Amino acid sequence: MTVLNFRKTDFVPQDSSHKKVVIAVDGPAASGKGTLAKKLAERLGYAYLDTGALYRAVAMATLEIGGDPSKLQDVEPALEIIKRNLTPELLANPSLRTPEVSEGASKVAAIPEVRQALLDYQREFAANPPGFVGGAVLDGRDIGTVVCPEASIKFFVTAAPEERARRRFEELKATKPELTYEKVLADLKTRDMRDSTRATAPTAVAEDAYTLDTTHLNPAQTLEEAIGVIRASFLAETNDNARTGKTAKNNGPQP
Ligand code: C5P
Repeated sequence: MTVLNFRKTDFVPQDSSHKKVVIAVDGPAASGKGTLAKKLAERLGYAYLDTGALYRAVAMATLEIGGDPSKLQDVEPALEIIKRNLTPELLANPSLRTPEVSEGASKVAAIPEVRQALLDYQREFAANPPGFVGGAVLDGRDIGTVVCPEASIKFFVTAAPEERARRRFEELKATKPELTYEKVLADLKTRDMRDSTRATAPTAVAEDAYTLDTTHLNPAQTLEEAIGVIRASFLAETNDNARTGKTAKNNGPQP
């Protein structure tokens, strides 16, 4: 049931010189962050960037040229190729979703030079989202902490590892019949550990993020909860501005 009847026009900037709304959606693998981010972008009429796909693309290119995704000298040539070919088609390529590429992505993502090289692209997307839209939704691990620390709203989406492994297993079992739930769970825990303990931009909950635990929520419920948070946050900002006589700092929803 839709309780909040936002219209897309509520989120369209009145003046294109205004700062764009940025919504950061971080969280571990298979937490539901990608689904939430995509649905939020659709609902609000914003642009969407799956930043994990950037690391996946670098990993896939590294593997294709026979390189080791944990070695900078092997990753560098792949990174150069990907930087020149970052297209929406590449980022949506289903070959980026295999377990081998997931594992490789988590390895290339631990290399500081790779993170630095992909930072400008992500920040540019957030500041100037493609199309005449009022904002951008980015999902990843470090959006609220490193890429866009000034994001208008930050979510940290999480779920129990067993539930995340169940979701990932359901997603992969048709194309990978040899895969077991236990293997998916073990891989997911390895990746969580690598992503949250690396020295540069580890998975972390931003201080000002809203944590959404999706263990017992379906995608529609998760979306409604997030929309409720966005509405409350912009209402609070509007009230604050009315009290202090300030104008809104960005073009957020006008409830
Ligand atoms: O989100 P997804 O599972 O597709 O991300 C693949 C990998 O890319 C993650 O395991 C993580 O290592 C890396 N990543 C990252 N920072 C981001 C997005 C993804 O380090 N902002």
